[in-house]
Amino acid sequence: MLILVTGGAGYIGSHTCVALLEAGYSVVVADNLANSNKTVLVEVEKITGKKVQFYLIDVTDEANLDRLFKTHQFDGVMHFAGLKAVGESVEKPLLYYHNNILSTITLAKKCLEYGVKHFVFSSSATVYGENPSPLLETMELLPRTSPYGETKAISEQILKDLGRVNEHFAVALLRYFNPVGAHQSALIGEKPDGVPNNLMPFITQVARGKLKKLRVFGNDYPTIDGTGVRDYIHVCDLAEGHVAALEKLKPGVCIYNLGTGRGTSVLELIETFERVNGLKLPYEITARRPGDIAECYADVSKAKRELCWQARRTVADMCLDAWRFEENN
Ligand code: NAD
Ligand code: UD1
Repeated sequence: MLILVTGGAGYIGSHTCVALLEAGYSVVVADNLANSNKTVLVEVEKITGKKVQFYLIDVTDEANLDRLFKTHQFDGVMHFAGLKAVGESVEKPLLYYHNNILSTITLAKKCLEYGVKHFVFSSSATVYGENPSPLLETMELLPRTSPYGETKAISEQILKDLGRVNEHFAVALLRYFNPVGAHQSALIGEKPDGVPNNLMPFITQVARGKLKKLRVFGNDYPTIDGTGVRDYIHVCDLAEGHVAALEKLKPGVCIYNLGTGRGTSVLELIETFERVNGLKLPYEITARRPGDIAECYADVSKAKRELCWQARRTVADMCLDAWRFEENN
């Protein structure tokens, strides 16, 4: 089985390439390297001992994508390619709508043209907006706070509409919670460009001394200790969730939350990171970050029931692996 992985040189895509190769699939990666480096795929090959074919392609470019579909008969696609910085999407909405929506349309169009029936899409828990946790796949999606979130909701809608009129098209919309950590080899992981926006890469860079101090955005939320609560999921569990979804795909559109179902506060994450890695993290409590919600965690019973998949790795594993990767790079 040959799978096209768009955005396969990125953080989640590269870990999923490993999971796919280890499960016996062959992979072709199409990435424009807007937020990644080709050398990541060399590491993927090192980890798995298997080859990855790479194409430097922008997925919004129909002519190039067409050539790729002519060259390979894919059994399925996993569509990770996308821009993901929430703040940047507010500053540059057209860039985000263009890149994230056109890539989904172009890729889906090629799948229909070339008879590729299996489509796995990277969505986000951000589509739930301010719904109360635990978040369930059946909840109505609430208005998003960012153009980035809108691109995920619109892409989901496009794929749902396509699924309705193409009876053989099988789509999985995977709503990720907060992916963190790295492959245990420490060869691949998250490498944000510049100052990180997300908590875990911020923590590892403070631990490394690249950044002076962590800012905890608010301690007056109605949560266990006043700080924001999220459902952190180890990126390797997330990657394995993709293989499970691919294997269970059936015609129509299925939506799955990929999380652990457990919430962890900012202070709890800091405490675990310090404890398992024997480090001290300087931090200060600051004002809330605009747009943040108090808590966001998944109801994961559907994925468990239908995909026979659940996250196995602990928050301690996430902290150990994230730090090992930071130290190694
Ligand atoms: P990433 O930036 O590491 O990977 C995305 C990859 O897509 C990069 O390699 C980038 O170069 C590539 N890319 C972007 N636009 C492209 C285009 N037009 N054509 C070809 N390649 C393109 O991000 P990630 O964290 O691995 O995220 C993967 C997907 O999962 C994204 O769609 C993201 O929105 C989604 N997602 C991520 C998170 C998260 O916290 N990391 C959470 C929810 C959803
Ligand atoms: C962010 C995105 C969201 C995306 C999600 C996926 C924003 C506004 N939202 O959300 O769209 O789906 O990542 O991973 O960027 N925190 C700090 N200090 C920091 C950084 C974060 O205290 O330096 C806190 C936040 O307030 C939050 C928690 O840590 O409570 C997690 O933050 P983050 O990693 O940015 O993820 P999300 O807020 O879930």
